Amino acid sequence: PDAVQVDENSKDQQLARNRSEPTGNFLTTDQGIRVEHTDDSLKIGARGPTLLEDFHLREKLTRFDHERIPERVVHARGSAAHGYFQPYESQAKYTRAKFLQDPSKKTPVFVRFSTVAGSRGSADTVRDVRGFAVKFYTEEGNFDLVGNNIPVFFIQDGIKFPDVVHAAKPEPHHEIPQAQTAHDSFWDFVSLVPETMHMIMWIMSDRAIPRSFRMMQGFGVHTFRFVDEKNTSRFVKFHWKPLLGTHSLVWDEAQKLAGKDPDFHRRDLFEAIEQGDFPEYELGVQILEEKDAQALGVDLLDATKLIPEEIAPVHPVGKMTLNRNPTNFFAETEQVAFCVSNIVPGIDFTDDPLMQARLFSYLDTQLTRLGGPNFAEIPINRPVAPVHNHQQDGFHRQTSNVGRANYFPNSLGGGCPFLASQKQGGFVHHPEPVSGQKIRERAASFNDHYSQAALFFRSLSGPEQEHLIDACRFELGKVETKAIQERVLEHFAKIDALLVSAVAEGLGLPAPKATPVTPKGPPASKALS
Ligand code: HEM
Repeated sequence: PDAVQVDENSKDQQLARNRSEPTGNFLTTDQGIRVEHTDDSLKIGARGPTLLEDFHLREKLTRFDHERIPERVVHARGSAAHGYFQPYESQAKYTRAKFLQDPSKKTPVFVRFSTVAGSRGSADTVRDVRGFAVKFYTEEGNFDLVGNNIPVFFIQDGIKFPDVVHAAKPEPHHEIPQAQTAHDSFWDFVSLVPETMHMIMWIMSDRAIPRSFRMMQGFGVHTFRFVDEKNTSRFVKFHWKPLLGTHSLVWDEAQKLAGKDPDFHRRDLFEAIEQGDFPEYELGVQILEEKDAQALGVDLLDATKLIPEEIAPVHPVGKMTLNRNPTNFFAETEQVAFCVSNIVPGIDFTDDPLMQARLFSYLDTQLTRLGGPNFAEIPINRPVAPVHNHQQDGFHRQTSNVGRANYFPNSLGGGCPFLASQKQGGFVHHPEPVSGQKIRERAASFNDHYSQAALFFRSLSGPEQEHLIDACRFELGKVETKAIQERVLEHFAKIDALLVSAVAEGLGLPAPKATPVTPKGPPASKALS
């Protein structure tokens, strides 16, 4: 009875049950009582006082007064679309995840793109990371790949997430500025936390001002695992590549668009889908055998590092097509709840301390944002796979559990009479052997903060390096505290000689002596030659 057939329309059909078109000939209250008219409140005489008895007035105002829910603490501004994912061929060699086995099978998806720092009503084209969150409604339950358009992150341990976000958001005393990267507190944090350097290179690059959500890469960032039928685990990094190619705005365009059309990316995505220009993205994975991980020279648990594609090429897995706009922004785009811990058999986590914090944080924040523990029942979040358990009650509960026994095990009937075993398709955590001391410490293998920053800067073309340098001059130029600018230059000096001298010149400060690291990879600075 639990077998579920999922096709590309499954989620739409499920959502359709909750759609309501006010097409009748009369208005009603929420209780279904017909409304006589809705233009005047109930009063004693046409010019007299309004009566508390007017249930229609009270209901209408109450509903309006409570329309808003808290915006997301980060990634508040977003735009979303429905679509489907289809594997090119079976990935059974690497994973037992069912949605990756059959090339004829289409799994419905919902994707939300977002900026990170701005509020719900902020402009689309600001310099910022973009969220790229995908919910796969698979036959085995929801798998959420909650990624970004940049393959690395600011910090190595999730315990620093509140710090980096506080520093990037508007300053607390006056809520200025809206711009993430153009103020003292952001650069103060960066200057004191050198692990941010690789990400800073990406965020000062053109990647942080994409041309369109349709022309943006996505990355799972962390190292995940694929686990096959024999329980062999391999490390994987997820990549999305847009079939339209990866394109950026230039800073001048981005600034003008932020004023002229703050909805530029939202409009672009919506209109493209309405016109039938469906955005497509190829999913790929870099795969590493566990035994080869040690020899990499990069710690796979450090989310400030990537694995160069020369070492692990991206293996194509399948394609995602976005072909339908949400019916209602609030019901779908606003209420969707992505969570890194939503995972299906065949995929698993690693001990990346940034990832481990995320496994807690999303569900925790959604308890507040979506009003209690029953948000998985909101139509956009509901799996298309069946849900059976003894979870019950709480605010906004929709499901009425049937039966007398609401505990396990029971002999009175009702509920689930069995424990899901691996044989029955249950999720079994990869039995990774671990041992060690209980300590609050960072691994020494996380210590190199400059090599990949330098590698990234040197991999850019001349004009791209110029854009990055201009961005650093612009953003750091807004910083009022000279000591912060100087500390940042000290870090840049360890990345690239041209970078530090050009940025220092732009700030009107002496350049510290350059002592750049020498990473393996593309040589030489090319900008401003
Ligand atoms: C939201 C990505 C790190 C906490 C989001 C969203 C994305 C994202 C895409 C938006 C989801 C949506 O569209 O609804 C990432 C990536 C990270 C990262 C790629 C690093 C690799 C973290 C960390 C934490 C965190 C370290 C906390 C420890 C949150 C929270 C939200 C969020 C609380 C709001 C969720 C909601 O209200 O629904 N993140 N994030 N993130 N992220 Fe992250």
